[in-house]
Amino acid sequence: MASFQFVLLFLIYISPFLSLCFATDPFVYYDWTVSYINASPLGVPQQVIAVNGKFPGPIVNVTTNNNLVVNVINRLDEDLLFTWDGIQQRRNSWQDGVLGTTCPIPKDYNWTYQFQVKDQIGSFFYFPSLNFQRAAGGYGGIIVNNRDIIPIPFDTPDGDITILIGDWYNRNHTDLRNTLDAGKSLGMPDGVLINGKGPYKYNTTLVPDGIDYESIEVKPGKTYRLRVSNVGISTSLNFRIQNHNLLLAETEGSYTTQQNYTSLDIHVGQSYSFLVTMDQNASTDYYIVASARFVNESLWQRVTGVAILHYTNSKGNARGPLPDPPNDVYDKTFSMNQARSIRWNVSASGARPNPQGSFRYGSINVTDVYVLENKPLMMINGTRRATLSGISYVNPSTPIRLADAYHLKGVYKLDFPKSPLTGSPRMGTSLINGTYRGFMEIVLQNNDTTVQSYHMDGYAFFVVGMDYGEWTENSRGTYNKWDGIARSTTQVYPGAWTVVLVSLDNVGVWNLRAENLDSWYLGQETYVRIVNPEANNKTEMPKPDNAYYCGQLSHLMTAKAYTSFASSITAGRSKLVIMLQMFVLVAIFIFH
Ligand SMILES: *[C@@H]1O[C@H](CO)[C@@H](O)[C@H](O)[C@H]1NC(C)=O
Ligand SMILES: *[C@@H]1O[C@H](CO)[C@@H](O)[C@H](O)[C@H]1NC(C)=O
Ligand SMILES: *[C@@H]1O[C@H](CO)[C@@H](O)[C@H](O)[C@H]1NC(C)=O
Ligand SMILES: *[C@@H]1O[C@H](CO)[C@@H](O)[C@H](O)[C@H]1NC(C)=O
Ligand SMILES: *[C@@H]1O[C@H](CO)[C@@H](O)[C@H](O)[C@H]1NC(C)=O
Ligand SMILES: *[C@@H]1O[C@H](CO)[C@@H](O)[C@H](O)[C@H]1NC(C)=O
Ligand SMILES: *[C@@H]1O[C@H](CO)[C@@H](O)[C@H](O)[C@H]1NC(C)=O
Ligand SMILES: *[C@@H]1O[C@H](CO)[C@@H](O)[C@H](O)[C@H]1NC(C)=O
Ligand SMILES: *[C@@H]1O[C@H](CO)[C@@H](O)[C@H](O)[C@H]1NC(C)=O
Ligand SMILES: *[C@@H]1O[C@H](CO)[C@@H](O)[C@H](O)[C@H]1NC(C)=O
Ligand SMILES: *[C@@H]1O[C@H](CO)[C@@H](O)[C@H](O)[C@H]1NC(C)=O
Ligand SMILES: *[C@@H]1O[C@H](CO)[C@@H](O)[C@H](O)[C@H]1NC(C)=O
Repeated sequence: MASFQFVLLFLIYISPFLSLCFATDPFVYYDWTVSYINASPLGVPQQVIAVNGKFPGPIVNVTTNNNLVVNVINRLDEDLLFTWDGIQQRRNSWQDGVLGTTCPIPKDYNWTYQFQVKDQIGSFFYFPSLNFQRAAGGYGGIIVNNRDIIPIPFDTPDGDITILIGDWYNRNHTDLRNTLDAGKSLGMPDGVLINGKGPYKYNTTLVPDGIDYESIEVKPGKTYRLRVSNVGISTSLNFRIQNHNLLLAETEGSYTTQQNYTSLDIHVGQSYSFLVTMDQNASTDYYIVASARFVNESLWQRVTGVAILHYTNSKGNARGPLPDPPNDVYDKTFSMNQARSIRWNVSASGARPNPQGSFRYGSINVTDVYVLENKPLMMINGTRRATLSGISYVNPSTPIRLADAYHLKGVYKLDFPKSPLTGSPRMGTSLINGTYRGFMEIVLQNNDTTVQSYHMDGYAFFVVGMDYGEWTENSRGTYNKWDGIARSTTQVYPGAWTVVLVSLDNVGVWNLRAENLDSWYLGQETYVRIVNPEANNKTEMPKPDNAYYCGQLSHLMTAKAYTSFASSITAGRSKLVIMLQMFVLVAIFIFH
């Protein structure tokens, strides 16, 4: 009796405190030490970026609306930031982990990210966003599970397997950076890694001895959810599993209509979930393949990732040639038609109980149109740069979002052009002036000869159309206004366009970038700045207490600022201690 009252009183006593300090949704904590480790994924020793000694890093496994707290300790020899590709950071661009929002974590410092995975489900990945570091690893999968009350549109799979595929160089990220800075191209990658490992020795000529490969163990007759992300640098990959169908179910936070594919093109930065039924006899293991796409296959043979699908009752090794990639050298519509066949499941529930399709994007009027054009690299001021619409982005030393918070002028310009510049290209910090609650149409035109993918932070956009040639206003007649997929990364084929629509309801400063790491590094990005004209403290979270300072605000990053942050934690703790002491006194008083 007394103890029941005690607990009850305790809960009543602390609940206002709890709700003030924490949201009611559960918290999930991670502590990450980020360092180099020695590894030889393709047989050549090199330093790769590991999280807690692991490459790839740990899987972030959370549920819709969970609060994620990730304390990152930087033990690299350079600055670090993590970005959470596809996590929307509702009202909270502060935690987005790109230079436009956040000062880098200097080496030997730590910084704690804290954000809510609000109203999201699906498959994503995180990676280090600075200095070409993704080319050295540091990435890992993110799973956002449905809440129990919301059914998923398929039977609960018998297992959940993350597969990270990506091209890889034996040169480290500093060497690759130097190559790009010198105006040279990176050349053909040395291979494709699957979960940080090199290829299975499927061919004794092509694969050297002693390479550690990924092997995925499965039980016959079971169905697994495979979450596959292309975390690589710039190579589009075709993903396939020998003798097995890939039933597509989800991409980057949207459930798709379910269709079987024998292989699917996964472009840089994209993530897909497949349901794969282990319906083959176990006479052998099977190959899992990720091979370079739209290249001369005979020259690019080494750029092929091979892992093993191992049935528990398997009678032998995988055999025979690798399953064939699509045979479409002379058919450039095949891959695009496949992309167009990926549709939103309008009747399934996503993160919320109502069907995904109840957001009828097709009936919303567009308020702003931006045509963004990618051109082959060009010389600007003596350096070889990538541009979007004729502008090569320059990161200001002070993050845009922080500059706004401190009313600094001149850090950036809101002058990103609505259509590509016609004159000579320039360098600059030109941002898109987004209209809060506007509905933006973004035309991505690719005038280069390689596939590019583009990603927007803070949002999922609707992919409503893509085609070869030059986009014109008449192209609007071909848009899918009903079940275009909502995702955060889309490919744009060479000599082609892709159009996305996005509802600008998330206040903040949001990175819009090429996912291809070389294009991004050389300046192919901008930010969309979205401000609620009615300042009310509700549409955006305040600057986090632990924010670091840099650039024009470096003076705030003094030992004092640092210790005062540390002491504010202590102060918070001692408040709690005092409260507990008071409470114990009160309790003793009552129970006497
Ligand atoms: C990268 O490789 C170069 C040699 O090519 C070496 O000097 C440098 O220390 C390496 N850096 C890292 C971070 O591994
Ligand atoms: C993710 O966590 C859930 C429990 O919250 C667990 O059931 C599931 O197996 C985990 N998935 C992975 C891939 O670890
Ligand atoms: C660094 O880590 C400590 C815990 O080890 C944490 O209290 C502190 O908030 C972190 N620093 C920042 C700036 O997030
Ligand atoms: C291995 O690859 C080489 C080079 O492409 C090829 O000539 C050879 O036929 C392959 N061997 C087998 C067993 O497939
Ligand atoms: C997909 O293929 C599997 C066989 O691997 C089959 O059982 C299933 O019915 C197919 N589903 C669809 C939607 O085509
Ligand atoms: C298993 O599959 C292989 C290849 O498809 C086939 O040759 C073999 O006869 C099958 N074995 C059984 C027991 O079905
Ligand atoms: C691919 O490269 C090989 C070797 O250089 C060459 O013989 C072949 O013609 C090329 N194929 C195509 C389609 O360009
Ligand atoms: C869109 O614009 C049309 C024509 O200007 C207007 O009639 C319609 O009501 C608008 N629709 C919405 C949803 O605002
Ligand atoms: C070239 O650099 C100079 C000096 O840094 C700068 O003033 C000028 O605007 C730059 N030109 C272009 C085209 O960006
Ligand atoms: C940005 O857009 C808002 C309307 O959304 C407008 O009021 C403002 O003047 C624009 N700012 C600039 C610099 O164009
Ligand atoms: C690039 O643009 C030019 C001029 O519009 C056009 O002639 C050319 O075909 C385009 N190239 C590609 C690959 O789109
Ligand atoms: C927003 O919050 C700040 C700090 O708590 C406060 O000074 C300001 O008055 C608030 N503004 C509005 C419009 O509520």
